[in-house]
Formats: sequence, structure tokens, C-alpha cells
Amino acid sequence: MLLAFASILIDCSNLKRSPCLGYAPAKFVEDDAPFRLFTAKIAAVAEDLRLCQTKYREYIDTPTEIILANSMEYRPPVEYDLVITSPPYMNGLDYVMNYKIEIGWLGFARTHQELKQLKDAMVVCDNVSKGVIRRFSGEAGRYSNPWIEHIKAEIAANIARRGFYRREDMPEIVHKYFDDMYLVMRNVSQAIRPGGRFVLVIGDSLIADVYVPTDLILARIGQELGLKIERLERARVRRSGQIRSYRLRETVVTLKAEGLAGNYLRQGLKAQWP
Ligand SMILES: C[S@@+](CC[C@H](N)C(=O)[O-])C[C@H]1O[C@@H](n2cnc3c(N)ncnc32)[C@H](O)[C@@H]1O
Repeated sequence: MLLAFASILIDCSNLKRSPCLGYAPAKFVEDDAPFRLFTAKIAAVAEDLRLCQTKYREYIDTPTEIILANSMEYRPPVEYDLVITSPPYMNGLDYVMNYKIEIGWLGFARTHQELKQLKDAMVVCDNVSKGVIRRFSGEAGRYSNPWIEHIKAEIAANIARRGFYRREDMPEIVHKYFDDMYLVMRNVSQAIRPGGRFVLVIGDSLIADVYVPTDLILARIGQELGLKIERLERARVRRSGQIRSYRLRETVVTLKAEGLAGNYLRQGLKAQWP
């Protein structure tokens, strides 16, 4: 019931999410909205449960486990046949800012400081604190590859040419994104059984007029970690938030473990970069 209540909070308030959270002064919320929306949500949950108990009865006893952890740190103790994820997009949403109402109501953070700790532990977004990026810049042993270095240099040159950009440290933010995703992918690639698959749904980006093929770079990182790029499928076309006429895509990247993932890592083999 608490979860159902958390899911109607934005609809009952003068906030909107489109997709970022913001005030909607012209929004009209009827006095009985919390009662009506809560009742409707509970009915939807009940219908889902009814479906589980009728249509999918044979799966009800399938053991499930939900682990709340940071994917950059968590090392699964078992091996998986299939891992599916849609990681944060580069330059994407600030999840903590956007979901702070639900995070608060569900008790995942009690203070602004706890919200900040949560945000700092996440895969980076372009709203990250400057301190996190400063610390990252000085870190030894960061993941990189020639593609990332090339993109960083182009972004830095474009920011210098423009004379101003909303984040001067954008090249480092981009670098941290791939470093974060490398940590996630390294943990996952070590936890996939031979023959198993790792599927990522991910979008590309346009940053300071520089095209960042995040999908292809993550696919190559997977290759570097010993996985085979089995398939790259365009799922849909998106528009860039910066230049509306610029077309971006969303890709389903399928990586396959052919029994070598762990070995590759142990031998320290690297993919050949262009
Ligand atoms: C594109 S969304 C995908 C959401 C998910 N597929 C769903 O349908 O709810 C990316 C998610 O990654 C989460 N995330 C960001 N950094 C993370 C981390 N270090 N460990 C685990 N999850 C993280 C964000 O909170 C966000 O919910």
C-alpha cells in the first residue's frame, strides 16, 4: 500500500515529470485526487496479482530474490544465464532529483545528505557534484580507451571554442560515465555462464556538438571483457535534447559469453581499438 501511495504522489501534487521533475503551476488537482488515484492504483495492483494467480500460476513458486546494491560494487555470488539492464544514459536523468519524493516516502533516504550519498554512488549523470568529478580526475587506474580519449578531446575543444558550456568539466563527466559502466560490466561479465547473454538497452548522445556512440562503446567494452557482440538492434529513434533535429537512437546490445569471459579477464587480454 505504501508503494501504491508513493506511485501517485506526483499526480496528486503540483509537480510534473516530463521526464524531469518540475513544478506545474497551472496544474489543477482535485481535492479527492489522492483517494481516487490510490483506489485506482490498488485496483491495478490487485488485477496484476489476480493475473499472477490465474494465468501465470505455474510460475508463482519460482524463487525470486531482489538485491538492493550498487552495481559498480556488487559481485554476484552465482552465475547467470541472462542479465538484462537498461543502464542510465550518458547525460541522462538525475534519478535522485527526479525521484526524491518517492525515495523520501519509501524511506530510502531521510535527509538531503543521504540523497547526495545516493546520487554520488550512482552511475554518473551530468548533474553530478563538481567534487565527485574533481576526485575522479585525480584517481589512478581509471578505465579508458582510445575512443573515449578522442571524444574527451573533441568535447574539450568544442567547449573552449564556445567559451562557455554549462559544465566545463564535461569531458571528465563523460570519462566517469564509461569508467562507471566499465565497473558494472566487469562485475556482470564475470557472473555470466558460458553461453549466457548480457543484454543492454542504451541510447547514444550528443554532447557539446560531439556525437557519443554510447551503445557501440559499451559493446566494445563488453568485447574487451571477453564477451562476443552477438547483435546490435536499433529499438527506436530519439531526438537530441540539445538539437531537436538531431536524430539519436536507442539500441539493444546483446553480448554473449562464449566461455572465455573470466579467462580473458584473468589473462588481461584487451580488444583491439581502432
Ligand atoms: C534507464 S533506468 C532503468 C530503470 C529500470 N529498467 C526500470 O525499468 O525501472 C537506469 C536505472 O539505473 C539505476 N542506477 C544508477 N546507478 C546505479 C548503480 N550504481 N547501481 C544500481 N543501479 C543504478 C537508476 O536508479 C535507474 O533506476
